[in-house]
Amino acid sequence: MNPLRLGVLASGRGSNLQAIMDAIQNGELDASIQVVVSDRADAFALERARQQGIPAFYIDPKSFPTKIDYDLAVAAALEERDVELVVLAGYMRLVSSEFLARFHLKMVNIHPALLPAFPGLEAQRQAWEYGVKFSGCTVHFVDEGMDTGPVIAQAVVPVYDTDTAETLAERILEQEHRLYPATLQLIAEGRVEVVGRRVMVR
Ligand code: GAR
Repeated sequence: MNPLRLGVLASGRGSNLQAIMDAIQNGELDASIQVVVSDRADAFALERARQQGIPAFYIDPKSFPTKIDYDLAVAAALEERDVELVVLAGYMRLVSSEFLARFHLKMVNIHPALLPAFPGLEAQRQAWEYGVKFSGCTVHFVDEGMDTGPVIAQAVVPVYDTDTAETLAERILEQEHRLYPATLQLIAEGRVEVVGRRVMVR
């Protein structure tokens, strides 16, 4: 089978992007990143992609009259390169239904909590403030909601009394870097099947 063609959307430091690029390089993930797009000019993710010779574009949301126009420009950048799976890696924007329609069940996200607990921003801090004893990360398909799509895989980490929101976030991030490439590999192998809300790994 040909390597799965990925398009990565990222807004920030891009450590999950790096983990995916590393897994591809090590032969653990049978995929190729066709393009990286960011909504932020200063996203370090763009730099990381360029270092690897991957086309990386900043598309400025403010240069489009509406959110839909912006999303269509991002979709065009992905479609031009025949991207088969859109990978959100710290992409801090909700995508419009127009964008979703183009990538239905072809878009995944990683969230730093055990969904459906603690969706939205600063999930690690939310979990720490709530006082849960375990948290973790979730890879899920993207649907119309905020962090509500079908769950593909999760990893659990303990929360210790000595933790701060920051140390918890670090422990979760370590698992993100393992879980995301591993889950993408399951998709690349064609082993992931969605039945309603439930995702089966064959
Ligand atoms: C990651 O912790 C990711 O789970 C989170 O943003 C961080 C991005 O880090 N995503 C969300 O909170 C999405 N709701 P990175 O840029 O180093 O990969």
